[in-house]
Amino acid sequence: MAQGPYSDTVMDHFEHPRNMGEMDGADGMAQVGNPACGDVTRIFLKIENDRIVDVKFKTFGCAAAIASSSMTTELIKGKTIDEALKLTNEIVARELGGLPEAKMHCSVMAEEALRAAIEDYRKKQGEQGDP
Ligand code: FES
Repeated sequence: MAQGPYSDTVMDHFEHPRNMGEMDGADGMAQVGNPACGDVTRIFLKIENDRIVDVKFKTFGCAAAIASSSMTTELIKGKTIDEALKLTNEIVARELGGLPEAKMHCSVMAEEALRAAIEDYRKKQGEQGDP
């Protein structure tokens, strides 16, 4: 029973976030802030053979931001980097059963954090002199 502006799926991910936490020795990690509100999301990636084998997130933000991060981690776990890079905040919002228009900006943070964490991974790979 959806009450207020959020879908049941948003409320479920807000109340029971998937893959929440931090990760020691992450292969890629990034923190991004949402300029619209000052909230912050961190994403940690464990990557093996170009596949995201584990992911954790921490979001200091509103319900929509936490639900978007949680859904993002679910959608990319087990995917290749190229597949993960195809994920957009619109897809995440759709999978969440929609977000109120005024909260769409909250879903952008997870996508940006994911992209930045992948960039961080690639940078580290480069430093290791990958073949
Ligand atoms: Fe800041 Fe939603 S209000 S992310």
